[in-house]
Amino acid sequence: MATFGCQMNAHDSERIKGMLEELGLGEAPTADEADVVVFNTCTIREKPDTKLAAYLGEAAARKREDPDRVIAVGGCYAEAQRERIFELYPAVDVAFGPGSITHLGEWLGAGGVGVARGRFGLDERGFAAELPMHRERSFQAWVQVSMGCNSVCSYCIVPAVRGREQSRRPGEVVAEVTRLATQGVKEITLLGQNVNSWGRDLLPEIRTEFGELLRACDAVEGIERIRFTSPHPKDFRDPVIAAMAECDAVCEQVHLPLQSGSSRVLKAMRRTYTRERYLALVDKMRAAIPDLAIGTDIIVGFPGETEDDFVQTLEVVEEVRYDSAFTFVYSPRAGTEAAAMEEQVPHEVKIERMERLVETVQTIARERNHGRVGRVEEVLVEGVSRTDPALLRGRTRRNTTVNFVGTAAAGELVDVLVEEATSMTLRGTQTVPSHALVTLDACAS
Ligand code: SAH
Ligand code: SF4
Ligand code: F3S
Repeated sequence: MATFGCQMNAHDSERIKGMLEELGLGEAPTADEADVVVFNTCTIREKPDTKLAAYLGEAAARKREDPDRVIAVGGCYAEAQRERIFELYPAVDVAFGPGSITHLGEWLGAGGVGVARGRFGLDERGFAAELPMHRERSFQAWVQVSMGCNSVCSYCIVPAVRGREQSRRPGEVVAEVTRLATQGVKEITLLGQNVNSWGRDLLPEIRTEFGELLRACDAVEGIERIRFTSPHPKDFRDPVIAAMAECDAVCEQVHLPLQSGSSRVLKAMRRTYTRERYLALVDKMRAAIPDLAIGTDIIVGFPGETEDDFVQTLEVVEEVRYDSAFTFVYSPRAGTEAAAMEEQVPHEVKIERMERLVETVQTIARERNHGRVGRVEEVLVEGVSRTDPALLRGRTRRNTTVNFVGTAAAGELVDVLVEEATSMTLRGTQTVPSHALVTLDACAS
């Protein structure tokens, strides 16, 4: 199984894996040994499409040697290419959209053999929320609160492939969070394409809004950390900020996609906020939530973006001082409004702007992280460090990765004194808990 794309897709893959495991289809040690290969695809930019083509080429070659192998392609690319997927990739047996994961088990059949080729469930829109789940970590979980997106950002393919926004009922979300807590989950991340517009499409008798959902999740015993992604700046209303400020479990961290710092470009993107409104929102959030970490997404080279527009993006980056930022070169997506715009920015210009943006983003992120040196941060331990097996790895409430000297087990919350910083990570030492100090004092006397 290979997964591309965003957290939503990673979470869908947990459901796909869980469902296949129930059918007796466990994960094969290598792709070469798999009877069934599932690609859960993304099509947000051209890059994931190209990557998928390479993976499918390899899978098709293996299938030529052993025709009983089954190839299933799901997710956003499959949905976007629903008219042509079998012509584009004749080796594909099953194609399914993000809304039809529930049926994949039936289509593959136990053992995954004897599948008839055809169109399967593209265009369907169902929640996979009740499927069994295969989670990699026992103490962290994603919780889907909505699917689809009602925005019309002119560059974006997501509304075309994930459909209209549909909120999960509040009772269902809270029941899942409660169940996860009893299973030992300490940190949840609420997921939706536009997570803070959650609730507005619910029936009047249960209609509510995202701030209330944060409060309900905060009240669940055992949940120590709550994150959510991605909110849209246009929907960040005061009750959500108040809930973030007042709920102990809601982390001091927000992902607030900027996309561009130029109001002119934002308008062409149909983001519906201006540079000024975005900056005012940042000020309001920082005033309400001390120590808030802010991350963002930025696109460079949107059609018609001038040097002056780009400089305005750099200015906003410098003014906000982001703790982290995902930066993307604009990639035209067939069928979107922006792909048809004239004045596409030349590739070299995009690359040159990207380099300048990345440098600015990294310099600021490094400074922000250096500002944490000398502080004690609460860290949720995730395991052993990826770069140095002598160290542990975890994340702060502000969502920064920390590599540290310590003795804790994965899933524990510990305090770490931050001693060093780069633009991406912190380094430190677990502080000795106070009860341990008491014991040492007792020994000495
Ligand atoms: N629903 C989320 C995330 C959407 S995709 C949100 O609105 O925040 C994640 C990011 O990919 C977007 O925030 C945007 O920065 C980037 N993106 C989307 N379409 C793109 C395109 N055509 N080219 C380049 N980047 C794109
Ligand atoms: Fe795409 Fe905009 Fe919806 Fe995000 S809010 S998924 S960028 S259309
Ligand atoms: Fe990609 Fe679909 Fe997510 S296009 S970014 S996997 S919603």
